[in-house]
Amino acid sequence: MQLFLDTTDTATLRALAETGLVDGVTTNPTLIAKSGRNMTEVIAEICEIIQGPVSAEVTAVEAAAMIKEGEKLAAIAPNVVVKVPLTVEGLKAVQTFSQSGIMTNVTLCFSALQALMAAKAGATFVSPFVGRLDDHGAEGMGLIQEIRTVFDNYDFDTEILVASVRSLSHLKEAVLIGADCATLPPSVFQDMFKHPLTDRGLDAFLADWAKTGQSIL
Ligand code: G3P
Repeated sequence: MQLFLDTTDTATLRALAETGLVDGVTTNPTLIAKSGRNMTEVIAEICEIIQGPVSAEVTAVEAAAMIKEGEKLAAIAPNVVVKVPLTVEGLKAVQTFSQSGIMTNVTLCFSALQALMAAKAGATFVSPFVGRLDDHGAEGMGLIQEIRTVFDNYDFDTEILVASVRSLSHLKEAVLIGADCATLPPSVFQDMFKHPLTDRGLDAFLADWAKTGQSIL
């Protein structure tokens, strides 16, 4: 399971990269707008902080323009993944990127048949948005199970990148299903380390150790 961070906050990214457990980053036009920074600059900085896949999304809607934008984004750094919306034009562009060895992340996926088309187009990653499906009254994690089954049925190489993750329960279900990757808000990533019984147990160990008066060094 590769754990990506869904953020353009480079200060938080630097801090969490110190854990050694951040495998990549995803961004989108909303996160770029939120950063208030130039897209090329922030993507270049993220690619210096994280050596793994860094998704940068095109904003054109026709294949030819998407390809031009994607080639520019891919030139920023070798670990840039070109993010493309799951549309007919987007999947035309993905086929071109696939032939030229540019990694792609097909985003805004909301059905198993959409994911099938992304895999057939040669996408490196497909991003089903579980939180937004939940918001819509659907069962987001059910889609992950369906896509897992479809990809295993036909032995597709495309990796399932669970996105729009809102909670640890989303992530737990994703890992139990066997999704390949998940992209997390930094807060969810930080919550993964935490459990009250761990804190309580450590406090008790250290209190008992202190009573021995010993030191290991
Ligand atoms: O960036 C892709 C996805 O994780 C965004 O999801 O619903 O939090 O905007 P959302």
